[in-house]
Amino acid sequence: MSSHSHHHQERTPMTAVEFIEPIAHEAGVAQATELFAKTYGGQPEGVWAAPGRVNLIGEHTDYNAGLCLPIALPHRTFIALSPREDTKVRVVSDVAPDKVAEADLDGLEARGVDGWSAYPTGVAWALREAGFDKVKGFDAAFVSCVPLGSGLSSSAAMTCSTALALDDVYGLGYGDSDAGRVTLINAAIKSENEMAGASTGGLDQNASMRCTAGHALLLDCRPELTPLENVSQQEFDLDKYGLELLVVDTQAPHQLNDGQYAQRRATCEEAAKILGVANLRVAADGIAKADDPFQALKETLDALPDETMKKRVRHVVTEIERVRSFVRAFAQGDIQAAGRLFNASHDSLAADYEVTVPELDIAVDVARKNGAYGARMTGGGFGGSIIALVDKGRSHEVAQKIADEFEHQGFHAPRALAAYAAPSASREA
Ligand code: GLA
Repeated sequence: MSSHSHHHQERTPMTAVEFIEPIAHEAGVAQATELFAKTYGGQPEGVWAAPGRVNLIGEHTDYNAGLCLPIALPHRTFIALSPREDTKVRVVSDVAPDKVAEADLDGLEARGVDGWSAYPTGVAWALREAGFDKVKGFDAAFVSCVPLGSGLSSSAAMTCSTALALDDVYGLGYGDSDAGRVTLINAAIKSENEMAGASTGGLDQNASMRCTAGHALLLDCRPELTPLENVSQQEFDLDKYGLELLVVDTQAPHQLNDGQYAQRRATCEEAAKILGVANLRVAADGIAKADDPFQALKETLDALPDETMKKRVRHVVTEIERVRSFVRAFAQGDIQAAGRLFNASHDSLAADYEVTVPELDIAVDVARKNGAYGARMTGGGFGGSIIALVDKGRSHEVAQKIADEFEHQGFHAPRALAAYAAPSASREA
């Protein structure tokens, strides 16, 4: 053995990073129909699907009446469903195809269902609570390629596909228009918040129900806006600029309902109260319009009692402004500037909002060092996924670099997805 090999650490061959492919329309319909037939016998009344999402920028702004900018993923959750004459709900999913979960809508109260079936059951419950007495029970089978618990809104894909299916089979008539869908979105949000106990601010459900192919959805979360006023479709054509949007699911253990998210929300609400505004959006708009925005931000922060609150507010205020800047930069084809805004968003979420974990920071860092124009965490944080804007054809290489570094660090193997602006929820069969 040469002395050289004693000192030189052999590089073991790294594991090839997995890319999660979307389930195609035909396969999704066939698989959901098959699981339905196998579980309940007979054919479902129809098949619907709703996508997961990635938020391009505007994180932790939705519950502050701010701006966000999601796209729908090509990765969708398919639901085969039939209505029932009674109030029973039976659901099954491809995650555990032999386990049927049952519940009854009659007398059901908030938090009355445990486990994943709270999400779809809660949608029917929320619609009934909203006064849609026509809505009764259902049998449903889910098949999904949206990675679970990865910050890519697998929950919204489930609640929104359920809402659209129930709207259709019970003839509510809200699924066919963008504005009508807001009624279904509200039921999906209520289910997640009150039945599943997972707080969410509306970004995910609006993305799943209102995004259009080739566009990012500029969502303005000011509560006083009507559904006709609160979204605009922004062209998001990666091809035009020779770009790809790489998503890497870090697989870091991730929990949104562990209190951290609620704590961030509470701090923001308290800060708004101290500042004497209805929400932090009002503060952000005031700062943006000031003659000297930097001075105005400083004065706002000076009015807050503690360091942590100052940092949280600084994130929200600057993040709302970054959404505006990103929309402008991307429309002008200034990809360098768009990338810098991704980076600034991540850095603010890491340092000021403190919702990143080492997996997210390292994935972002590796992407940047390997030629990404910009990279940032997406979604709620505390685990989940990052997105990176890279030149066309470079996604696999960058994803592999991240996977190699994760292996080196002893993290779970990450998984990747190729993202583009896909359509929202629809009936599939
Ligand atoms: C989660 C929530 C959303 C939003 C994001 C952060 O995804 O469900 O409502 O608050 O976190 O931007």
